[in-house]
Amino acid sequence: MDYSLKSGNLSRLRTPCLVLGVFAGGKLTDAAKEVDRASGGELKRLIKKGDMGGEPGRGLMLYDLPGIRAERLLLIGLGEPRKLSAKGLSEAHATAARLLDQAHPAEALTTLHLETPEADPYQALRDAVTATAQALYRFDECKSDPQRPRRPLKHLHLHLGGWRRGAKLERALSHGKAIAGGTALAKHLADLPGNICTPDYLAEQARRLGRDAARLKVRVLDEKRMHALGMGALLSVSRGSRQPARLIVMEYRGAGPKQQPVVMVGKGLTFDAGGISIKPAAAMDEMKYDMCGGASVLGAMRACVELDLAINFVGIVPASENLPDGDANKPGDIVTSMSGQTIEVLNTDAEGRLILCDALTYAKRFKPAAVIDIATLTGACVIALGAHASGMLSNDDTLADEVLKAGRAAGDRAWQLPLWDDYQTQLDSNFADMANIGGRGAGTITAACFLSRFTSNFKWAHLDIAGTAWTSGAAKGATGRPVPLLVEFLLRRAGQRD
Ligand code: BES
Ligand code: MN
Ligand code: ZN
Repeated sequence: MDYSLKSGNLSRLRTPCLVLGVFAGGKLTDAAKEVDRASGGELKRLIKKGDMGGEPGRGLMLYDLPGIRAERLLLIGLGEPRKLSAKGLSEAHATAARLLDQAHPAEALTTLHLETPEADPYQALRDAVTATAQALYRFDECKSDPQRPRRPLKHLHLHLGGWRRGAKLERALSHGKAIAGGTALAKHLADLPGNICTPDYLAEQARRLGRDAARLKVRVLDEKRMHALGMGALLSVSRGSRQPARLIVMEYRGAGPKQQPVVMVGKGLTFDAGGISIKPAAAMDEMKYDMCGGASVLGAMRACVELDLAINFVGIVPASENLPDGDANKPGDIVTSMSGQTIEVLNTDAEGRLILCDALTYAKRFKPAAVIDIATLTGACVIALGAHASGMLSNDDTLADEVLKAGRAAGDRAWQLPLWDDYQTQLDSNFADMANIGGRGAGTITAACFLSRFTSNFKWAHLDIAGTAWTSGAAKGATGRPVPLLVEFLLRRAGQRD
């Protein structure tokens, strides 16, 4: 899918399809007014017939309007002008993209973004690209007869209206494309079933990212190497599975050797059955999504490579399955982490923190400027925040604000929970340095408290994406979150956002 900027008189531009917004009650947007004038008021007359009332989610294709060079018009409802939000506009882009993909024009020229409520052309253009790409994502490769559109949308031109073309607006498109590409990669890896997307498969996808990127070096540590490093917590999880664990290490060097890197660590649990503390059967299939944190790190890396960001960035993905087996962790087992701290495994289903703690200890060798870990870590986070915000906890207030800000700017929000010492005692163990669970209360916080014991040497933020990484129910599928937040964070660190 290609995106490009276009300027010129709307009525004179040749295009297979021109996309125009219509507000509630059939009120025309400025772009639609321009077309209406060129058509001698014909557009207005058609709308008066009542087929397009401007309701959000509505779309109407019109043909052969006089006085303009567009072969078709696609009218998209935008609702009440004063109630139009950035989110509403993204939904309008998505409606347009789906209709264009089903109808026949492979190319179109849109004006919807010009109605941006935030009056920020950069943001409006970037959102147009990410919303369009999001709507066009499909996962049908496991169907024997996928229903593909006959002539899918291939190229979207975005009209500049009164905006001045320039480097910043070109950048909006390239940023949007990179975010969309990273999000699509994360979604695809996540939607793949656990029998295809294994730790080895994830490692192979990471290697592939590095193959034609000169600045990216990818290494994959096998279990022997992890054993030599003393990663007893991570290895205790993969012992319960026939798939060997992998530690994926992606080193992107876009700045000088003196710049300390940003490190992102993503939970890559390719299937979580709970282990001996086995999960109930209902919706257990969704635990193929337990690698979404890892997938988001691959997605962020892909965007970073595509944009050639001037930053040093390390992505680490501990990848494993969590299954019950004769050799699996048992409740009460005590394992020794790479940090030397011992852990009593009171619940084998709290495995995410076991694989993350060793990866976080490993992260220290990169002398990170900041570490962000991303994990579908706790069901408690779904109870606390639902599907709208990722949970965020941090040992550094400045980093916390930076992460929250990036989430707001990218329309991929996180919400901070406290990481107070008061909660730490919930992890006390009678037999080891700590337990891997902290009782019924504050499950998201005690999980972060556990991780904090492995991150005291650097600035660290933790994102719990258990509620945001995928959608359940009829629309089951990965969301690609929090790739937009992570890429926004990197863009800001790389000085790409003024
Ligand atoms: N991957 C799960 C967390 C999860 C559960 C994410 C449901 C999304 C939806 C994690 O490994 C897990 O099982 N956590 C346990 C921890 C508990 C045993 C302390 C949980 O949340 O139930
Ligand atoms: Mn689990
Ligand atoms: Zn898990």
